[in-house]
Order: sequence, then structure tokens, then C-alpha cells
Amino acid sequence: MVVFLIMDRTLRFNSNNMIFFVYFFIFYNIMNSKTGHNIKKRNKANDVFITPLTLAKKHIDMIEYKDDDIWYDPFKNSGNYYNQFPNDNKVWSEILEGEDFFDFNMEVDIICSNPPYSMINEVLSKCISLKPRVISLLIGQGNLTTKRIENMNKAGYGLYKLRMLKVHDWYGMSYIVHFEKDKENCVEIDRTIYYREN
Ligand SMILES: C[S@@+](CC[C@H](N)C(=O)[O-])C[C@H]1O[C@@H](n2cnc3c(N)ncnc32)[C@H](O)[C@@H]1O
Repeated sequence: MVVFLIMDRTLRFNSNNMIFFVYFFIFYNIMNSKTGHNIKKRNKANDVFITPLTLAKKHIDMIEYKDDDIWYDPFKNSGNYYNQFPNDNKVWSEILEGEDFFDFNMEVDIICSNPPYSMINEVLSKCISLKPRVISLLIGQGNLTTKRIENMNKAGYGLYKLRMLKVHDWYGMSYIVHFEKDKENCVEIDRTIYYREN
């Protein structure tokens, strides 16, 4: 919008407008790649992101559950997940309140949360070790890799559901990855390396 106001108001494609567009395009792309670079290089991970209430509810609603299932939110913070779980058989942890997920050892059926993105591998391994039926997490798009899906498959979990979405002000897209014991993947993984023939 601002771009068009700054430009020639008649919006004719004269050379000044073209030069402005080119500079704007280059600036925009530099800023975008800089954000990604800063996230990768920062010394201290920023792992506290509060999930919007409506999104946490939508995420919970994706899960088919039984009345006696025990729900677990390992990263409770505000409780936007925990408080909206559909029954009272529920437990939580949160490092800021002295309850470390990595010390948790109860039997649970459903793990559902928005985890700290700086330790996704450790989070997935710990989730697997708790042997729940469902592991359903809200993660950044860059956190979903073929290797991670394959590791979950090796542990007996299929990527049963995948939802792609955007949260305002969060970097890139976010994914709800719903892994479930003994289920098929909802995506195909092709590990062939393709080469150009011409
Ligand atoms: C991305 S935030 C999500 C918060 C909340 N689940 C939500 O969606 O609004 C991740 C949370 O995990 C917590 N956390 C990080 N490491 C933890 C650990 N080892 N055990 C428990 N909580 C941890 C952070 O303090 C932070 O509150």
C-alpha cells in the first residue's frame, strides 16, 4: 500500500517506478533472509511463544480421544493448551515453574503442546520414551524434516495428520504434526536423489 502511495500516483510503469520496485524487491529479500540467519545464529534460543487460545483449541480438536485418556501438556506456560483439554485426566510440566519435561515419567495417552523449537530432537525422543498413543505438536515449518518423520516411523508412530497454518508475528509457517502409534504417514517420502538428464 505504502509502496503505491510513494510511487507515481498514476501507477504508470515509467522507469522511476521500475527502479523503485527493483530496490524494494532487493531490500525485502535481504530483510527476510536476515531474519532467518539471525534465528539460526542467536546464542540464546527464544523458546517462549504463547499459542493463541483459538489455535490451541483447534489443535486439541484434531485429536480423537477416549474418555479415560490421560492428556499431557509438557510445556504449559500460560495453560492455553492444558486449560482447554477436554477432560480432567490431565498433567503438565513447565520449566519456569520448576517442572522439567525431561524428568517426567508418568504414563500418559496423549501429548499435545507447542514445544521449545531449539530442542526438537530431544523433545521427540523424550515423547517417544513415554509411549503415548498420540504425540501432537505445533512446530515451525523448518522443524519438520524427513529424517525426523523417519525416526518417528522407526519408533512406531506415523505422521497421521498435518495442518499448515500461519500465526501472526511468528517466523514463517507453523505446522501441527500429529503422530499416532501404528498409523500410516499422511505424506509420502521419496528418498531418491534425482539428477538432470539433459
Ligand atoms: C513455545 S512455548 C509454548 C508455551 C505454551 N505451551 C503455549 O503454547 O502457549 C515453550 C514452553 O516450554 C517451556 N520449556 C522449555 N524447556 C522446558 C522443559 N525442559 N520442561 C518444561 N518446559 C520447558 C518454556 O518455558 C516455554 O514456556
